[in-house]
Amino acid sequence: MPKKVAIIGAGKVGSTLAQVLMYKNLCDVILWNRTPERAIGIALDIMESAPVEGFQTKITATGNMADIAGCDIVVITAGVPRKEGMSRDDLLKVNADVIGSICTNIKTYAPGSIVLVLTNPLDPMVYLTKKITGFDREKVIGMAGILDSSRFAEFIAMETKTGPKTVSAMVLGSHGDLMVPLVRFITVNGKPLSDVLDKTKIDTIVERTRNGGAEIIKYLKDSAYYAPASSLALMIDSIINDKRLTLPCSVYLQGEYGVSDAFLGVPVMLGGKGVEKVVELELNDDERRAMAASAEKIKQLVGELNKLGV
Ligand code: LAC
Repeated sequence: MPKKVAIIGAGKVGSTLAQVLMYKNLCDVILWNRTPERAIGIALDIMESAPVEGFQTKITATGNMADIAGCDIVVITAGVPRKEGMSRDDLLKVNADVIGSICTNIKTYAPGSIVLVLTNPLDPMVYLTKKITGFDREKVIGMAGILDSSRFAEFIAMETKTGPKTVSAMVLGSHGDLMVPLVRFITVNGKPLSDVLDKTKIDTIVERTRNGGAEIIKYLKDSAYYAPASSLALMIDSIINDKRLTLPCSVYLQGEYGVSDAFLGVPVMLGGKGVEKVVELELNDDERRAMAASAEKIKQLVGELNKLGV
């Protein structure tokens, strides 16, 4: 029997994720949307490509949260996306309300599931998800680091004219202006990045990575969805097939990287149980300071949520 994944929100990320999961033949999907007609239309459209694409997994649509019962993974993509000129943090209150009602339903209908969160501002929204569901930390994971790392790796691949898979890059910290691109750990065909590109070029790429989401919005007048959907699919693959890949994800820290009681992007091993392990890299003082600044910013946003009574 294929594993079952619920996608909450049939917006651009949710519907693209549904398509990617089907084309990879990874799992059955239940696509939930507040207005079910949209989910029904998307599910039907994707299923109508099955005879051409040859996938055997199934996608069904619903507007009823009770239908997520029995899902192995629930992915929250619902929420208001960023528009031009907005920061991810501007979405705090409006998306906290969206997450609140969804998580209450997840707790009721899919208490055994692993929850993946994409909604922005990412790290406070995953925190809220854990708080409302009360799930163990292994089972509540935010997607951001894979996307930021993929952007970083692709910009390096473009600049060095190498294949994207030859670049190994890791972005940690918060999904925002204070993300922590770990330049020291990057390799291109096994060589350190500093042997391949000069400092000015590296700094330009780091800045472009920080603004990667905003760059897409500038052109699209909408938030990115292809790379975010692929990043979520990679997490789902690693979990349902117990691949135990080490991927940067936002997880609840209890002292790792010197941070407690906050969700922050760090490398984790993802397997059948969700977070199998937090991988601790040896950071230098600058990198540690950058991680601490990231964590401080997230705690400040969570503090604002508490003040709002969310
Ligand atoms: C981005 C959104 C998903 O970075 O935050 O494009």
